[in-house]
Amino acid sequence: MTSFDPTKDHSSEIPSTTEAGAPRESDAHSLSVGSNGPLMLHDVALVEKLARFDRERVPERSPHAKGSGAFGSFEVTEDVSKYTKAKFLQPGAKTDMLARFSTVAGELGSPDTWRDVRGFALKFYTEDGNFDMVGNNTPVFFVRDPMKFPDFIHSQKREPATGLRSNNMQWDFWSLSPETAHQVTYLMGDRGLPRTWRHMNGYSSHTYMWVNEAGEKFWVKYHFMTEQGLEFLSNEEAGKLAGDDADFHRRDLFESIENGDFPSWTFEVQIMPYEDAKKYRFNPFDLTKTWSKKDYPRIPVGRFTLNQNPVNHYAQIEQAAFSPANTVPGTGVSPDKMLLGRVFSYPDAQRHRIGTNYNQLPVNRPIGETNSYDKEGHMQFSHSGNAPVYAPNSYGRSYQDEQGPVDNGWESDGSLVRSAYELHAEDDDFGQAHTLIREVMDEAARGRLVETVTGALLGGVEEPVLSNVFQYWKNIDQEVGENIEKAYRAAIGDQEPGGTPTDK
Ligand code: HEM
Repeated sequence: MTSFDPTKDHSSEIPSTTEAGAPRESDAHSLSVGSNGPLMLHDVALVEKLARFDRERVPERSPHAKGSGAFGSFEVTEDVSKYTKAKFLQPGAKTDMLARFSTVAGELGSPDTWRDVRGFALKFYTEDGNFDMVGNNTPVFFVRDPMKFPDFIHSQKREPATGLRSNNMQWDFWSLSPETAHQVTYLMGDRGLPRTWRHMNGYSSHTYMWVNEAGEKFWVKYHFMTEQGLEFLSNEEAGKLAGDDADFHRRDLFESIENGDFPSWTFEVQIMPYEDAKKYRFNPFDLTKTWSKKDYPRIPVGRFTLNQNPVNHYAQIEQAAFSPANTVPGTGVSPDKMLLGRVFSYPDAQRHRIGTNYNQLPVNRPIGETNSYDKEGHMQFSHSGNAPVYAPNSYGRSYQDEQGPVDNGWESDGSLVRSAYELHAEDDDFGQAHTLIREVMDEAARGRLVETVTGALLGGVEEPVLSNVFQYWKNIDQEVGENIEKAYRAAIGDQEPGGTPTDK
């Protein structure tokens, strides 16, 4: 059953059954010894119903738990074949897809309008397998080494003792991790509160690889620009909505599509010739940086539209599994350490969250045939009958063994080390955050930034974190840093830092 029409008369359909297909005697009454008597363990219908109910929840996604999505269609409108041979990126190609939008830190039931980065995950069902683009609504990220990612997420979630979220914990992590400056500036600016998911852009943030038919390689960043225009909520609107309608963004997307108002995004890329990466003025694989549009302008590729709501949120959105590991021929990953960490983490999380055979579920299943020697595990559904389960074999089942350099790889050499990236001329933590404040934000946006950061600091940030935060902002922008400190001190009056703000 894919869709249930409540306006139809269903009385002639088969009666309800147990999960093994036998008729259920009752959906309303359990089996008891006399009308008032105790219940029977062999009431299969009741035991199954309760046992099944007990197992309805799978663990929520570790980050990005709250979200929703829709299906749609992607069409290539331009010719980028000189950069990639990926079939779904050839001129005129049309591909079915799924999008899921999310908040990062909140739990499954948390309000959509809490200030946060928003997830922007796309799955393209291509003839060469699924291609996933798992990005955010900001073009950069907080950290640049996967070793720090769990600590970052812990600092955004809840404190061990109180079970409360803690501004002190968040700002402690950020102010001690200067590489967060660029993304924190985005987050504390208007981007941290998109009006709806329809009104935000999406970015791969990472650098990926494209390879063309001739084997030439390019570095690429993906940009998805909203055709609805960028719109934001104010702190007041977002706070009110968090109470009035915690599912505001989920509802907005569903209702827009239900009303035939299909949201769309253009797909654009920045392309860097392979050799440029070696001499670019900053590390082009550093996820805390954007590439200058002057150096690498955005090139249009195509456009996608979301036009179909899920018919079952759990089966099609909750159980959807997006992963940067899902690349197709003509695409690939890059030496970005974060990206390499993610390539492991997503399928691993999904084997745990959904089950070993999560790729066999309809929403995750590629449209083409799969043929692998992986077998069994929880809920195995697809199988290869009695075909050989090992390779090589003498019975004609396929055996692949391509050797030599892979077409989407890169050269690498050196001792094994634990270290930061090698420094390029313009690598630093604060420069691009400063540019964002001075060249992208106007005076009013800078004012809102100061107000938002001050508000967060007044929400329980204490020494020594507080002083670190003032310095962090002065490192980004002296004036903004001073204004934050001034506004904070004015708000607390004579009280100790971290105390309750007064009204003066
Ligand atoms: C979800 C890990 C960095 C965007 C997740 C999930 C994990 C994870 C385990 C849940 C997956 C699931 O249960 O289906 C990591 C690790 C990272 C990292 C280890 C760094 C080393 C990033 C970055 C971005 C990002 C840099 C964006 C550029 C997302 C999105 C989702 C997600 C959008 C939700 C996908 C969906 O809608 O199902 N991440 N993440 N993550 N992550 Fe990351």
